Amino acid sequence: MSSTTSIHGMWSSRLAFILAATGSAVGLGNIWRFPYTAGEFGGGAFVLVYLLCVAAIGIPIMMAEIMLGRRGRQSPINTMCTLAKREGATPAWQLLGWVGILAGFLILSFYSVIAGWTLAYVVQAGSGDFSGINADASAAFFGDLVGDPARLLTWHTLFMIMTVLVVARGVASGLEKAVQFLMPALFLLLLIMVIYAWQAGDFGAAWVYMFQPDFAKLEAHAGEAMLSAMGQAFFSLSLGMGAIMIYGSYLSSQASIGRNVVIIAGMDTLVALLAGMAIFPIVFANGLEPGSGPGLIFQTLPIAFGQMPGGSLFGTLFFVLLVFAAWTSGISLLEPMVAWLVESREFGRPLAAILAGIAVWLLGIACLLSLNLWSEFTVWGMGILDLFDYITANVLLPLGGVAIALFAGWVMHRQSSEQEFNLKPGSPFYLLWRLLIRYLAPISVILVFLDAVGFLDIIIEWI
Ligand code: TRP
Repeated sequence: MSSTTSIHGMWSSRLAFILAATGSAVGLGNIWRFPYTAGEFGGGAFVLVYLLCVAAIGIPIMMAEIMLGRRGRQSPINTMCTLAKREGATPAWQLLGWVGILAGFLILSFYSVIAGWTLAYVVQAGSGDFSGINADASAAFFGDLVGDPARLLTWHTLFMIMTVLVVARGVASGLEKAVQFLMPALFLLLLIMVIYAWQAGDFGAAWVYMFQPDFAKLEAHAGEAMLSAMGQAFFSLSLGMGAIMIYGSYLSSQASIGRNVVIIAGMDTLVALLAGMAIFPIVFANGLEPGSGPGLIFQTLPIAFGQMPGGSLFGTLFFVLLVFAAWTSGISLLEPMVAWLVESREFGRPLAAILAGIAVWLLGIACLLSLNLWSEFTVWGMGILDLFDYITANVLLPLGGVAIALFAGWVMHRQSSEQEFNLKPGSPFYLLWRLLIRYLAPISVILVFLDAVGFLDIIIEWI
C-alpha cells in the first residue's frame, strides 16, 4: 500500500515544496563552485556543456527522483527497498540509498567548511575590512583565513550547529518560512551585483568568456571538462544522493512533478549564470585569473565591495544571504540520513540529527586541516577537501543518477510511473520523459565517464 503522507511531516503547499527544493539546489554550488569550475575549464564551452547536462540529464533525473520519493514516502534507503519489492525487483536497490548517505556525508563535511568561509566573511565585510582593498590584499585576506585551522574550525562548528538545529526540529516545519523571503532577497542582491559589475567591471569580456564557446580551450582536457560540467550539474541540482528524493516524499500526491522541476532547475541555472555575470567582470577588470580555483569568489568579491558605494552594507548582506543559501542546502544533505535513523533505528529526531551532525563535523575537521596543517597529504594530487569534492560530484552523484534513471525507467512498471506523475496514458510529456530516462540520461552519463578515463579514445582507435 502506498501511504499518502510521510511520518516526518508534509510540505504545507506546492509553493513550500518549490521553495524548499530550490533552497536545496541553490547554494554554494551556484555562487562558489560554478564560477570557479567554469574558470578552470576556460568558460564558454564548459558553460554550454553544463547547460546541456542540466536539460537532458538533470531535469529528467530530478523528475525521477521526486517521483520515487513521493511513491515511497520514506528515507531513500527504505523507499528504494519498498519500491523495489513492490515492482518485483531485488531489495538490493536500497544500496542506492546507502551510497547516497555516504555521498551526503562526504559533501556536507566539506560544504560546511566552505560555508564557514562565508560566515567569516560576513564578519569581515561587516567590520569594514574590505573597504578600498586591492587584489593583493584580498588574496592575502583569504590566505590568512584558509591557513588558520582555529578560525576555520570555529566557523565550521557554527555552521554544523545551525544545520543540526533545523533538521532536529523537522524540515517541513522549520524550513518553509525561512526560505520564503530569503530566496527572493538573494536573487535581488545578486541582480544588484550584476548591475554593479556591468557598470564597474569588464562586462564585455565576461560575456564573451561565458557565452562564446571556444572549443579549442576544451580540447586539451575535454574528457575531464565534460565530466566536471556533468558533475557540476548533479551537484548544483542536488541530484543523485536522495536529497531531492526525500523532499519529494513530503510532497502532496496532487502536485505536478514536471512543472515543479522545470521551475526549480530554471531558478538554479539562473542563479548560477547571474553569479558568473557578477564575478567575471570583476575578475577581468582587475587582471585576475579566472582559473584560480576555489578561492575565486572569496578573492574577487571583496574587491568589488571595497570599491562600490555602500560596499560594507552590500557586502555584509551578500555574505549573509550566501550563508542562508548554504544553510538551506546543508539541511537537505543531512535530512536523508536523519530520516533513516528515525525510521529504522527508532531514534528521536533531535538525537538522530545530533549524532549524524557530530559524525559529519568530525569528517569536516579532516577537510579543514587539509587546507593547512595536512596540506602535504594528498591522494591523486588532491587534498582531502578537494578529493571529497571530486569523488562526490564527479563519481558518486552521477552513479546515483544512473541508478535512479535505470530504476525509474526500466525496473518500475510503466503504469506505476505514469500514475505517480498524474499523467494520462500516452501523454507526450510522459513519452519524452520516458525516452530521456531510459536512454539519453543513462547513456550520456556512461559515455562521459568512459570518455573521462580515456576509454572512448581507445575504442575509437580500434574502429
Ligand atoms: N545543490 C547545493 C548547492 O548547489 C548543494 C547540495 C544540497 C547538494 N543538497 C545536495 C549537492 C545533494 C548534491 C546532492 O550548493
